[in-house]
Amino acid sequence: MAADTMMAGFPDSKDNLIWDWAAIAKAVPPGTYKLAQDIEDDQEALHCMTGWALSQYSFDRYQQNEEENQNDRILVWPTGSDKIQAQAVSAVGGISLVRNLINTPANHMGPEELAEAAIELAALHDASCTVITGEELLEADYPAIHAVGRASDRDPRLIDLVWGDEDAPKLTLVGKGVVFDSGGLDLKPAGGMKLMKKDMGGSAQALGLASMIMDAGLPVRLRVLIPAVENAVSGNAMRPLDVVDTRKGLTIEIGNTDAEGRVILADALFEAATEQPELIIDFATLTGAARVALGADLPALFCNSNEVAENLLACATTVCDPLWRMPLWKGYNKQVDGKVADLNNAPEGGMGGAITAALFLERFVMDEDGNIPDWMHIDLMAWNLSNRPGRPEGGEAMTIRALFAYLNERYDK
Ligand code: BES
Ligand code: ZN
Ligand code: ZN
Repeated sequence: MAADTMMAGFPDSKDNLIWDWAAIAKAVPPGTYKLAQDIEDDQEALHCMTGWALSQYSFDRYQQNEEENQNDRILVWPTGSDKIQAQAVSAVGGISLVRNLINTPANHMGPEELAEAAIELAALHDASCTVITGEELLEADYPAIHAVGRASDRDPRLIDLVWGDEDAPKLTLVGKGVVFDSGGLDLKPAGGMKLMKKDMGGSAQALGLASMIMDAGLPVRLRVLIPAVENAVSGNAMRPLDVVDTRKGLTIEIGNTDAEGRVILADALFEAATEQPELIIDFATLTGAARVALGADLPALFCNSNEVAENLLACATTVCDPLWRMPLWKGYNKQVDGKVADLNNAPEGGMGGAITAALFLERFVMDEDGNIPDWMHIDLMAWNLSNRPGRPEGGEAMTIRALFAYLNERYDK
């Protein structure tokens, strides 16, 4: 293997360009700055503006005594290109939305508040947003979302945002919206539960990307589907080895109540696929296994189309927003089969857990003839474990700048 092939994908100085600008902004004293030389390259200008602005982000909703004004390192924008400036504003807005949603603690970010955030976003862009709540989920035939969410005092929901020209190519985003994942009856230990306010991180990415798409007026008919639940413990919680119905009709045997994400996504993804959109993208903090495989900063991409995956990964490199492709390895399909039901949500042994989770989801985007629209499944952390310039510890937007670049290439001809 040639040396350059072996090294492909290893971090080099280019992988960090956007955060280098954030580091500069963090290093200088408060004041207004202008670059000595304008940046000619559009991509570099985008890195500069986005990185600089993100370095000023902080989550201060709960702090009364703000000692320092965070927004006091101002940069005179280094480019004349309106389009790039608009893209930077839109990216910073989308990313800040993602971070705020994730950072808001679960006591203030229940299924209702998540729905309100979607409604608020829809109102900004003249989109429609409907919400199916509690028992209505059973009437509307979303039994899996209800089964996972019914144990909480805070009713589960399906959030459904629609925007754009009905005749434009259909793009559907789906995001895991587990506002807190206690693990259910197969309760998580304290260390594993601590960060689980971020288990709605997939839905936050979907809303952040939707915000960027609508801001840019991308010529698509956009739909965002968010199953929003709390995975709680109570007398009516789903139990290990319960069998849960789904919208598709397939039954799921609950091997572990902590594998709740794929159960709610089953109903949402089936609904997404029923419309036969051109492209479905789902985001989820789905498995610990994906984090074991790739670490906290590198989201896993599963995609049924080589062409789509390759184009996305090229965009990811350009905009410094990485993903790593993992296989929808058919050989593991049997592991997803249930013993008494059609499917099992937690295969024995757990090996290849990110892959088996993705194969589980695939069953719900697939139609009766085995056809799947273009589909990306992104299993991500949605959280920074430590502070770095532009990337403070806490909720994080991951992959949405890469996807926005890809969608621009695909749709904005
Ligand atoms: N929300 C978790 C996955 C998770 C944990 C993502 C930590 C990121 C960081 C998910 O609902 C879960 O608990 N999955 C289980 C599945 C298992 C029981 C089959 C897991 O990954 O351990
Ligand atoms: Zn879980
Ligand atoms: Zn979860």
